[in-house]
This record gives sequence, C-alpha cells and structure tokens, in this order.
Amino acid sequence: MTPTFPDVSISTERLVLRPFEEADIPELADMMNDELTAAWTSVPNPYTPADAREWITRGAPAERTSGRGIVLAVDEHLTHRLVGTLHLKNTNWHTLTSEVGYVVGPWARGEGYAAESVLAIAQWLFHDQKFERLELRTAAGNTASQQVAQKIGCVSEGVLRNALIVRSRTEDGGWTDIRTDLIVWGLLPEDLEDAHTPAHRGAR
Ligand SMILES: CC(C)(COP(=O)(O)OP(=O)(O)OC[C@H]1O[C@@H](n2cnc3c(N)ncnc32)[C@H](O)[C@@H]1OP(=O)(O)O)[C@@H](O)C(=O)NCCC(=O)NCCS
Repeated sequence: MTPTFPDVSISTERLVLRPFEEADIPELADMMNDELTAAWTSVPNPYTPADAREWITRGAPAERTSGRGIVLAVDEHLTHRLVGTLHLKNTNWHTLTSEVGYVVGPWARGEGYAAESVLAIAQWLFHDQKFERLELRTAAGNTASQQVAQKIGCVSEGVLRNALIVRSRTEDGGWTDIRTDLIVWGLLPEDLEDAHTPAHRGAR
C-alpha cells in the first residue's frame, strides 16, 4: 500500500496550516483569481467558484489519499482569515523527497507569510515525517517566489532551460503562454538547522 501523509494541522507564530473545508470555496476562488497567480502557476484561469469546489472536495483530498502529497489551507491566527495555500506534490516515498507549491492571497502578501508557512511544512516534513529533501521550482522571472526560497535557506541548484510555460498579459488584456526557464531549489534537513521559527504540530 502506498504511504500517505496524515491529516494534519500545523501552527506557527502567526499562522495555522489545516485541511481545506467547503466553507473556504469563495475565498479560495478569490485568492486564485489573481494576476500573479495566473501568471506564475498553472491553475485554471479564470478560476471560478466551481474550480475551487472541485479542488476542495475532490482534487485536494485525492492528493493526500493517493500518497502524492498534501494540500493545506493557511489561515491567520488572529483573524481566522484564509491567507494562502500550500501543496506538497510529486512525493517519492522511496527517496523521501517532495516538492512544495504555494500561493498567498493578494490581500496578505509582503508579510512573510509564504516564508513562514513553507518553513513550517518543511520542518514538519523533516522532523515528523523523516523526509530528506524538499524541492521548490520557480519561474526564472518570479522574483517574489525566489525571495521566499532564499529566505528559508534553500539552495539554488540549477536551471532547467525552457522547462516551463507561464502566462503573460497581451496588449488587448488577454493572456498568452510564454516558455521560460525553471529554477530548481533544494532544501535538506541540515539547511534548516539555523531556522528559528519552531512549528507546534498536532495531529487532527
Ligand atoms: C510568491 C508569493 C507566494 C510570495 O508570498 P508572500 O507572502 O508575499 O511572500 P513573503 O512575504 O514571505 O516574501 C516575499 C518576498 O519577496 C519580495 N518581493 C515581492 N515582490 C517582489 C518583486 N516584484 N521583486 C522583488 N522582490 C519582491 C518581498 O519583499 C519579500 O522579501 P523580503 O521579506 O525580503 O522583503 C506570492 O507573491 C504569490 O502568491 N504569488 C503568486 C503565486 C506564485 O508565484 N506562487 C509561487 C509559484 S513557484
């Protein structure tokens, strides 16, 4: 039987990482229906409430139950507002490696939430799940995402030339696909030894 991640909830200083619920559908649709997310990720564009419902009720739970990864909503402790999402994907249970994707809502950017939540899931992955490597993949032009990788101690390991399709605005206000390079970032347990944001973990 393929191993799976447990249904988990993780608290950090300012955030709670937890499974999505149907009540999150409107806010998830708002978060994904955004210029930067459309540009740098491959989520549906436009992203409708029906897309959010499909992801929350089927896609996200299937990521966990299939062993491919886990999808978590990120809430602000103080306001209980949804501020982001994390997705562990392409998990390999033999090599104990996984990849993380992340989005922070336009209303919550620039507060360090992406770095804090990715660091928390990395700590959980290495300490609780005994994984050996976490990978981040960023488009060559996605400066904010590269800042996140750098801030949490990832090492830039190389460039996959022409490996990614991103979206760019056209003059008439539409979108067009553009081929670009992909930067691969790796994080190993020893890279986190200096990290000073301990996550408080709890099984649900
Ligand atoms: C990438 C993303 C998750 C960052 O979220 P965030 O919560 O704002 O990230 P953080 O606040 O932890 O860090 C962002 C850093 O990038 C910097 N930054 C943001 N925009 C920037 C820009 N255009 N140029 C240079 N630096 C930029 C911020 O100043 C910050 O760095 P600092 O803490 O050193 O000041 C968010 O912009 C997003 O959701 N983008 C769309 C989806 C996406 O690209 N996902 C990643 C796919 S790999």
